[in-house]
Amino acid sequence: MDISTLIKLATKRINSLKTANPNIEADLLMSAVLAKPRSWLIAHNDYQLTKVEEKKFNNLVKKRLLNQPIAYLIGEQEFMGLKFKVNKNTLIPRPETELLVETALQNYAKNTLYLDVGTGSGAIIISLANKLKDKAKYLAFDISQKALVVAKKNSQLNQVDKLISFRSSDLLTLIIKQNTLLRGVEQLVICANLPYVPTAYLKKLTKPDNKSLAFEPALALAGGADGLDLYRRLAKEIKTVKNKNKLLKIVCLAEIQPNQANKIKNILGAKTLILKDYCHKDRLAVAEF
Ligand SMILES: C[S@@+](CC[C@H](N)C(=O)[O-])C[C@H]1O[C@@H](n2cnc3c(N)ncnc32)[C@H](O)[C@@H]1O
Repeated sequence: MDISTLIKLATKRINSLKTANPNIEADLLMSAVLAKPRSWLIAHNDYQLTKVEEKKFNNLVKKRLLNQPIAYLIGEQEFMGLKFKVNKNTLIPRPETELLVETALQNYAKNTLYLDVGTGSGAIIISLANKLKDKAKYLAFDISQKALVVAKKNSQLNQVDKLISFRSSDLLTLIIKQNTLLRGVEQLVICANLPYVPTAYLKKLTKPDNKSLAFEPALALAGGADGLDLYRRLAKEIKTVKNKNKLLKIVCLAEIQPNQANKIKNILGAKTLILKDYCHKDRLAVAEF
């Protein structure tokens, strides 16, 4: 069959999921199978797929009908206008996290070190390095080795690999052990989109579920009973870093769920600002230490 016919059939089937743009999803799956941009599909819509290509396409459509996220099926996601490879070991970067990146950029000052703790696909730190280039220093931590492999690959694809150091660390452990990482740094901006989903909510998710969360790694999501366990530990560790480096200004940007705003203020301090995302929901805590 040709591109046009297969895309029409797939759009109809994907439409049953009630997603916003079934036609775009069908296009994206076709692009992935043929390794061609969407513009190529339009210009060659009478191209006859080989049997192998057609089978691959129909398999992807079948997986999509089981609610598998489109980003995992095509292996990439756009964030801050850049492309990021993703797989089952990384969270799919979300549009609301762009607020964290924009706020981090606004907090730029001379001799800043940006630290992305829980980097996942590297979306946050790579976007920062892409904008600020060598005006700042960049460190990215994750406890998952598999996520770090993806993040490093993304830094190469986006040509910022020479600027960022990706390291394995449980929250701030590495920086607490190696204070030399802060040499010459006057401001440390900690970018934290740590797991913040309450355990009980995660337990309710089953596959096939229409929530992307059902397919994403638990290590990237599970935040304990109220979702804030990792932020509690992070706050303690920030205080340890501050005690060792009294003159260092530390800014912590922590992404949250809208209903966690009051609790995060208790954790990060009463002066914590809460910023709203583009859907007018409480999304980002900004605290200074
Ligand atoms: C919600 S995901 C965010 C990924 C990425 N920053 C983003 O915004 O798309 C959280 C990440 O934190 C990592 N993580 C979980 N526990 C951690 C810990 N104790 N120390 C460091 N990273 C951790 C997970 O492996 C995952 O990559």
